[in-house]
This record gives sequence, structure tokens and C-alpha cells, in this order.
Amino acid sequence: MPANLMTKKDMKELAAEAAGSAAEGGNPRVKEVTERLLYRVMQVIDECDVTMDEFWAAVGFIAKAAKNNEFGLLVPGVALEHFLDLRLDEADKRAGIGGGTVRTIEGPLYVAGAPLSKGEARMDDGTDPGEVFIISGQVTDEAGRPIPNAIVDIWHANSKGGYSFIDGEQAPYNLRRRIQTGDDGRYLARSIVPNGYGCPPESATRELMGLLGRHAERPAHVHYFVSAPGHRTLTTQFNFTGDKYLHTDFAFGTRDELIVTLDRVTDPAQIRDAGLNRPFARATFDVVLTKETATAPKTVVEREHVIAA
Ligand SMILES: [Fe+2]
Repeated sequence: MPANLMTKKDMKELAAEAAGSAAEGGNPRVKEVTERLLYRVMQVIDECDVTMDEFWAAVGFIAKAAKNNEFGLLVPGVALEHFLDLRLDEADKRAGIGGGTVRTIEGPLYVAGAPLSKGEARMDDGTDPGEVFIISGQVTDEAGRPIPNAIVDIWHANSKGGYSFIDGEQAPYNLRRRIQTGDDGRYLARSIVPNGYGCPPESATRELMGLLGRHAERPAHVHYFVSAPGHRTLTTQFNFTGDKYLHTDFAFGTRDELIVTLDRVTDPAQIRDAGLNRPFARATFDVVLTKETATAPKTVVEREHVIAA
């Protein structure tokens, strides 16, 4: 069947009618987006001459992703979560805001309500045989002034690439902590060096990546939400130099400004000073928050989050 069977006018009219554009009532915003979305989907179907079998296979794919609760994975996998970040970067630039730590994706694996402590925290429960990891950093404003009482909410995978609560193998809130910065804006976390991870083997997202000829893996990373009164909440993460998937993250989360180098400490005196009895890794991750103003683009995202029971 040849493509472009329908005229632009036919498709526009059909999309508008389906979106209730001329109908009374409803939500104008939903109507507008629905009309444009439908029109573009119709265009793609027409231009690519999508067959009925292909169309229903796509519907089946979406249904599978929904059944598995995978949209939080699929959205970054097709670069849309990164795209939203790029748009927010652009909005910041237009508002004259710069100088803060760059943002990147939240991903699907945040669990709200992690234990809160002042100044420092141990994030692992001692059962992970991985490499001990000391993360330290300071939260400051754009002028370099320390921000006391900022909340640094950190979460990451274990040495097998699994997340507590999600993988069902770890204690609730393992490797998830909120640390309140001290008067000097500093925080310190003792944890375990995380591993990267991939999409689950049977997931719709991995299936799609296969069809696209892409891998479905993420490099190792550590997620952050950082908030403080009077400042804009930051969603970010850092990655590690030398990671196999550093620049091909399937979720488009890596940003050049957010790559840290692990310092491997083997000197016995330094190990002792750190209160440890074996070599460990350490990294610094400082965070600069921008000031909250009435006109600054919103950075707090209303998004459903689970809370571990
Ligand atoms: Fe992650």
C-alpha cells in the first residue's frame, strides 16, 4: 500500500475532532496536546505506511510496558527525560540563571523518606562485600558561600547493580540516605562503590533497545536530590571515569560536568585515619545551588514516588 494516502487536511480534521477541539467542555490543555499528538501519530503512520499488524504490535508493547510499570525506564531510554532536562537548561539560560551544578535525570528508582542524619551517614548495612566508598562534598551558593542545613538525598545501587526496595534483596533504605549539611555546608557519606546496571532481561524496554540495535545498560552512578530553603532544588547524579558505559548510557544521564574520578586509598595510615581496615575508594562531589526567585523556572517535579514501608 502506498504511503501518504491521506491529505494533511483530512488528518488535521480527524485529529481535531477526536481531541474534542470544537466540543464544549473538557480541559483545553488536554485537548490541545491530544490534538497535536494525534496528528503527529497519524502523520507517522501515513508516512511510514505502518501496517495494522505493526500498529497493534506497538499497542501491545505499550500495554506490556504499562503492566510492568516500566515507563520510568522507557522514558529515559528514549531520551525524553534528558530532553526535558535540556529544555529546563534552556529555560534557565533565558532567565539569566547559571553557575549551579548541572542537573540530570532522576531515573525511576528513587524511594522517598530515607533516614535523615546530620552531617554524615553510613549508607550501607554492612552486608555488601563491595569496595568501601567515602563520598564527601560541600553545598554552596553561586557565590561559594556554604549552605548549612541543606538536605542531600543520596541513593545508588549496590555492588551488583541492584537498588534496595526495588530488587527485594536488600533491607529497606539500604544505600539511601538524607544528610543535612553542617554549618560549613559539608556532608560525608560512607557507602559501597555502586555497580552499573541494565534493564531487566524480560522488560519491554530492553526488547525495544534490541530492536533499535542499542544496549540497555547504565554506567555506575550515584543519584542526588539537593534542597535548601531559598534555593532551587537540584536533581543530579555523578558517574565515574573509566566506566565502560560512561558515554553510552542507555538513559542519557551522563553529563561531562558530573564525572568524578575515584581515588583509591591503599596507604595503611590513611586507611587507619578513616577508621577502616582495608583499602577504600573516595570521591568528592560538591554541589552549587542557585537562588530561588519568583521568576526562576520550577525545578521541583511533581512525580509519584514510592515510600518503603
Ligand atoms: Fe540509578
